[in-house]
Amino acid sequence: MTAGPEASGRFVVLEGVDGSGKSTQVAAVADMLRAHGREVVTTREPGGTALGAGIRDLVLGPSTPGPAGVQAWAEVLLYAADRAQHVAEVIRPALERGHDVVSDRFLWSSLAYQGAGRNLGSDDVAAVNSRATAGIDPDLVVLLDVPYEVSCARLTGRRDRIEAEPRDFHERVRAAFLDLARRHACPVVDASRDLDVVTKEVRELVAARLGVSA
Ligand code: TYD
Repeated sequence: MTAGPEASGRFVVLEGVDGSGKSTQVAAVADMLRAHGREVVTTREPGGTALGAGIRDLVLGPSTPGPAGVQAWAEVLLYAADRAQHVAEVIRPALERGHDVVSDRFLWSSLAYQGAGRNLGSDDVAAVNSRATAGIDPDLVVLLDVPYEVSCARLTGRRDRIEAEPRDFHERVRAAFLDLARRHACPVVDASRDLDVVTKEVRELVAARLGVSA
């Protein structure tokens, strides 16, 4: 963790494809950490700040902003702008106060969706994002993995711009997440199982990795 030598907050990120159940697990991890007496901030990308909520509407909103839609590099930069604000306004201050931060998505989402899904290449997407993350690196990323069919079955209702992308886009995103988890030795949880089973496993492995009892 790179928030400063005196900071004691831990930064945990839940990543995964749409419909993998991240928001439920963010709440479960936060409850577990609070039960151990820790102060916890839960947050998400995009939209973890007031500026970010506006960016979220721009990048995901139902009305296409102009005839050309959202160009791929514009999309990268909008997510990176959301992240820069999120790091500066929410994540870094919380960690510096000694609070834990549990976030629904962070950098890996851009590497997977824009780098792999949009075929922009993860190195270039990472380079753009280095200003946004500004040295903040998660202590732990947990990947919630579900196959495309499961993800689709869980996405009821109107799909946003990204959810509406075709199967091969989402397969590239999933493969990129799995590759990131492998390269960073981060845990991958099979999130297609019953919610109770997934929640128990996520809580236990976060507790073990952060050194608190589950
Ligand atoms: P999310 O909030 O997880 O979706 P939902 O509102 O359905 O729970 O994420 C919104 C979408 O943004 C999701 O399809 C993934 C996409 N996304 C990117 O493409 N790149 C990014 O860097 C981030 C953070 C999200």
